Amino acid sequence: MEFRSLMMVIDQFLKKIQKRQTPVGIIGMGYVGLPLVLRFCEEGFRVLGFDVDSKKVAQLKRGRSYLKSISSSRISQFVRNGLLDVTDDFSRLTKPDCIIICVPTPLTEKMEPDLQYIEKTTEAIRDHLRKGQLIILESTSYPGTTQELILPQLESTGLKVGTDFFLAYSPEREDPGSKRFSTFQIPKVVSGVTPSCNKIATTLYGQVIQKVVPVSSPRVAELTKLLENIYRSVNIALVNELKMLADRMGIDIWEVIEAASTKPFGFSPFYPGPGMGGHCIPIDPFYLSWKAREYDFTTKFIQLAGEINVSIPYYVVSKTVDALNDRKKSIKGAKLLILGVAYKKDVDDARESPALAIMDLFQKRGATIRYHDPFIPSLPTFRKYHFKLNSCPLTQPLLQRMDAVVVVTDHSQVDYTWVVTHAPLIIDTRNVTKNMKQWKRKIVKA
Ligand SMILES: NC(=O)c1ccc[n+]([C@@H]2O[C@H](COP(=O)([O-])OP(=O)(O)OC[C@H]3O[C@@H](n4cnc5c(N)ncnc54)[C@H](O)[C@@H]3O)[C@@H](O)[C@H]2O)c1
Repeated sequence: MEFRSLMMVIDQFLKKIQKRQTPVGIIGMGYVGLPLVLRFCEEGFRVLGFDVDSKKVAQLKRGRSYLKSISSSRISQFVRNGLLDVTDDFSRLTKPDCIIICVPTPLTEKMEPDLQYIEKTTEAIRDHLRKGQLIILESTSYPGTTQELILPQLESTGLKVGTDFFLAYSPEREDPGSKRFSTFQIPKVVSGVTPSCNKIATTLYGQVIQKVVPVSSPRVAELTKLLENIYRSVNIALVNELKMLADRMGIDIWEVIEAASTKPFGFSPFYPGPGMGGHCIPIDPFYLSWKAREYDFTTKFIQLAGEINVSIPYYVVSKTVDALNDRKKSIKGAKLLILGVAYKKDVDDARESPALAIMDLFQKRGATIRYHDPFIPSLPTFRKYHFKLNSCPLTQPLLQRMDAVVVVTDHSQVDYTWVVTHAPLIIDTRNVTKNMKQWKRKIVKA
């Protein structure tokens, strides 16, 4: 295409975006895709959501939410006014001018990237690709995914990137459970494969996000996301290791972190816990270690952080065993209540939660497990774990019947003072008992 006619195509695309005349397709109606759908609808874009899960599609079409963090009314208003439609019919991918991919990127059993969701989505887009479409990947992946995996597939149609269609990467930075930052407020790193892709993608996000941060290539954007998560993983591992040392030295690591946090520069606090959880921090760093092998490079920090964080559930179990032993009780046959199974505070998501590893280790040692989590009424089947358990009501008789209560997730709505008052022994992995000195004989920090 001639330079001048390309400029005209781009100019028209930008004008259509600014006038909200570009329907947006979002693939993957999960924790990342759904908030993004609503953000576009709020700004007046017509959105077509795609998902392979027909139950989710049916629920959304009825205006119902399946995520605690999103109310049904936020969805139903856009279904009613016609801005939002949802489908599992991928032939409708020809309709949107802009398509954003938010599908899962987990690991295989061998801790290698499981790219099947991105691959299947790319095939579906390829089969329906038409001139003038913008495709953006938001799923977290290794540097090179957009240009090495997606681009060749899309260009196999004979259409050319940067002129016939446009391709970009922009990582998601959602902070589930946090009310501090909305999707609008979290700056968005964006990069297109060509300058025209960049211009169109940054203009699109500029309509719905307060600050767009363009970077020079999709690989930079892909590595930016991984750096953010590796930074967390390494720092969490560091405080987890120091927690174990401090415990041996008879020092409370939480008090140390609080004191260090008073330094007004050069220190950002990270907090220890029961082990790494969620679908990002335990997983994403290994996308980079895997890719690094192609460059004869070993990512030692990532491996070490992974090793330490994976060992923490064992530490929590060993502290529980010791605490029971001190009370002349055995772990075999012990009645344990796990308080919180979500991977973090105030979320309804137990994927990759350290609670699952801890419960499994307790069960293997002969303990009887129950759990309470106001956000997780029953435990679904996970990749590695199959517990057939429902959350039990948190009552005084239940607490009194237990040999120990293990606090794994520090949900805001639980009254920990009340729990500590009625339970015989508390294993606290989150410092919820910080101000309960009067009960210190029955509290074990782990
Ligand atoms: N959840 C977070 O906090 C978060 C934050 C930043 C980045 N991410 C990244 O965003 C991506 C999506 O994560 P998520 O938490 O939203 O996952 P999710 O599991 O909540 O949602 C993914 C959705 O995609 C659907 N899906 C799977 N295969 C599909 C296909 N071929 N076509 C259409 N839909 C398909 C699933 O049914 C599901 O509804 C991942 O790469 C993740 O690492 C997640």
